[in-house]
Amino acid sequence: MENKVMYSAVQPSGNLTIGNYVGAISNWVRLQSEYDCYFAIANMHSITVRQEPAELRRRTLEVAALYLACGIDPEKCTLYVQSQVPQHAELAWVLNTVTYVGEMQRMTQFKDKSQKHADNINMGLMDYPVLMAADILLYQTDLVPVGLDQKQHVEIARDVAIRFNNRYGETFRVPEALLGKTGAKIMSLQEPDKKMSKSDENVNASIYLADDKDTIIRKFKRAVTDSESEVRFAAEKKGVSNLISIYSIFTKKSVEEVEREFAGKGYGDFKLAVGEAVADALAPVQAEQKRLLADKAYLNGVLASGAERAFKTARRTLGKVYRKVGFYQGE
Ligand code: TYM
Repeated sequence: MENKVMYSAVQPSGNLTIGNYVGAISNWVRLQSEYDCYFAIANMHSITVRQEPAELRRRTLEVAALYLACGIDPEKCTLYVQSQVPQHAELAWVLNTVTYVGEMQRMTQFKDKSQKHADNINMGLMDYPVLMAADILLYQTDLVPVGLDQKQHVEIARDVAIRFNNRYGETFRVPEALLGKTGAKIMSLQEPDKKMSKSDENVNASIYLADDKDTIIRKFKRAVTDSESEVRFAAEKKGVSNLISIYSIFTKKSVEEVEREFAGKGYGDFKLAVGEAVADALAPVQAEQKRLLADKAYLNGVLASGAERAFKTARRTLGKVYRKVGFYQGE
C-alpha cells in the first residue's frame, strides 16, 4: 500500500516565533517517520504582502536551516522552496476556476490582512487560499499539520478537492488538517486575546526562535497575566493559560503537572521557569541553525534535491489534472 502523505509549509516572512514551532514544526518532527513528508518554504505566499527582495531570499535559507535544525530529516522528507516547483502556480490557476470569489472574501485571514494592508489589497492576497490548496493537492496529501489559524484554509482545500473531483472525476485525495492537542494557538504575550504572530509590531508580544536567553526571559517576565497569583489553566485566565501551554510543550509535562509544580508559588517564579525552559530548548536549535547557515553548499544541495523530488510528484498530479480538464498535451 502507498504511504500516507503529510504536507505543510511556513512563509519566510518575518522572524519565526515559538507559535510556528509549537503549532506546526514540532508536530512535523514528531510525525515525520510515519508519513511521506513534504515541507515547503512558501515564498510565493509571502509576496502577497510587500517584501524586501534581498531579505526574502535570505529568510528562505534561514527557514530551510531552521527546519533541519529542529530535526526535520532530509533523507525522510522532501524539503523544498515553493517557487522552484512551477506546478504550484499552474495548478492554482486551474483551481481558481472551481473557487468562488465570495468564499475567498469570507476568509478570516483575508479580512484581517485587508484591514492591516489596506493600501495593498492585491489579487494574490485574495487568491492565497487557492495557492495553498494547490500546494496541498499536488502531492495527494492526507494530512496537513498546522496551527488553528490555518484550519480554515485547509478546509477550503478540502472543498476545492471535492468540487473538482465531482466535476471532473476522482483526481485529488481529500486532505485533513491536523492540530496539536495543546498549542494549536499560542497567544501574544502582550494581548493574550490575539495569536502570537511573526508580523506583530510589538516585539515584546512574540518570542522569536532567534531570541537569546536574556531576551526570552525578559519578554516572559513582562508577559500580561491577571491580578491573581494562581498558576491555573482556565478560560478567564488567558495570559497564564498561554504560559502554561508553552511551558507544558517545551518541558513535555502535562497541564496538571505544571499546575502542581507551581502550586503556592507566584507568577514571578513561574514566568522565570517558562523563560528558562524555552531558552534552554531553543539554544541547541539556534546553534545548529547557525552551523547550517555557514554551510551554504549543503543547504543548497538539500533544497535542490528536494525541488527535484517535489517536481516529479507535482508533474504527475498536474498531468492528470490537465487531462481531466481537457488541456491539449500533444497527441
Ligand atoms: P505561517 O507561515 O503563517 O505559519 C506557519 C505555521 O505556524 C502556525 N502558527 C501558529 N500555531 C500556533 N500558534 C500560533 N500563534 C501560530 N502562528 C502560526 C500556522 O498555523 C502554520 O501552521 N499559509 C501558511 C503557509 C502555507 C501552508 C501551505 C501551510 C502555505 N502553503 C500548505 C500548510 C499547507 C502560513 O502562512 O503559515
